[in-house]
Amino acid sequence: MTQPTAERSKTGSEPGPRDNETRPSNVIYAKSFFDLQLRSAHKAAGLSGLPFARALFEYTNLYIRFGLGRDFDPAHPTWREYLAGLRDTNDTLEWTYRFYLTRSEAMAAPPVVATFGCFSYALLSGDRIRLHFRNAETDGGSPLGVGRRGQRLADLTALFMHVKRTLREPLRVVGASWLYNLDAYRRLFPPSYLATARVIGRRFQHMPLWGQFLDRHGAIRESVTRSFLERLERQSSLDSLDQCFPLQVLSVEAPVLEFYNFYGIQSPGLPTPPGSRRATLPSHAADGEGLWARKC
Ligand SMILES: CC(C)(COP(=O)(O)OP(=O)(O)OC[C@H]1O[C@@H](n2cnc3c(N)ncnc32)[C@H](O)[C@@H]1OP(=O)(O)O)[C@@H](O)C(=O)NCCC(=O)NCCS
Repeated sequence: MTQPTAERSKTGSEPGPRDNETRPSNVIYAKSFFDLQLRSAHKAAGLSGLPFARALFEYTNLYIRFGLGRDFDPAHPTWREYLAGLRDTNDTLEWTYRFYLTRSEAMAAPPVVATFGCFSYALLSGDRIRLHFRNAETDGGSPLGVGRRGQRLADLTALFMHVKRTLREPLRVVGASWLYNLDAYRRLFPPSYLATARVIGRRFQHMPLWGQFLDRHGAIRESVTRSFLERLERQSSLDSLDQCFPLQVLSVEAPVLEFYNFYGIQSPGLPTPPGSRRATLPSHAADGEGLWARKC
């Protein structure tokens, strides 16, 4: 069974809608991931005329990686401390990486309501929820590999059962990530949701763009990185900086009912795996999540 890992609310047994997650996060991203971003900021500074410090702020994921949240305040004391250190060093990459290593990666995770395996969701304004993905496998296996497809579908089924139990309709589900380009990811979602995909640009501060350079161990993906750096080298316009990234961020959105149908969630606690006939609940089965777990 995929268990939620959100904090429990102080008042009841269900996670509260704004409870912060307490996900373990033990992946340390490679130094070359930061090198990539520093090079990108140098290029952006050269093309735009912005000071390098400002280009680091606007064109890299560093602010979030340092666990400073998503308010993007250039006057944040920790951000200023980082910039002050940059002025005192001859080795920008070494300073940046050491600074990152002193920060808690757990602080860099987005605030979410609840987590189910590799998936979690957050509440957005306007009756919408946002899906997030993160590798939560503990044995080093491919989280999106075909062998884990059943488990990922179980994660999503458990997540949407939780949504159905705890949130009122109407509700829409949104996503935004480079991952929506991959078949290994797309096969986990309703086709009608994927059909809404459109490219969104200028996500330079966010992991849904930069994540494509990493593998599940936090190491850099060499071929994707090489292709990016070659394009960056040739880049002559700030406006099309997005085009240096091999994969674009795709945004998707659909009503939650399409997810309930796709994962076979007919009523609370009664899921049917996608592509199979609807499960019938045996008289002795007390909860639907147990049923789903046995069928996967
Ligand atoms: C998402 C993530 C775990 C994938 O890592 P991974 O080691 O490639 O994981 P998997 O082995 O499960 O890969 C799944 C498939 O996607 C493919 N793939 C992964 N990254 C790719 C890329 N940049 N371009 C093309 N294909 C890619 C893999 O080759 C694999 O396909 P295959 O099974 O046909 O070989 C990793 O990129 C990551 O942790 N990124 C940082 C976090 C992130 O981006 N989160 C999403 C934010 S919205």
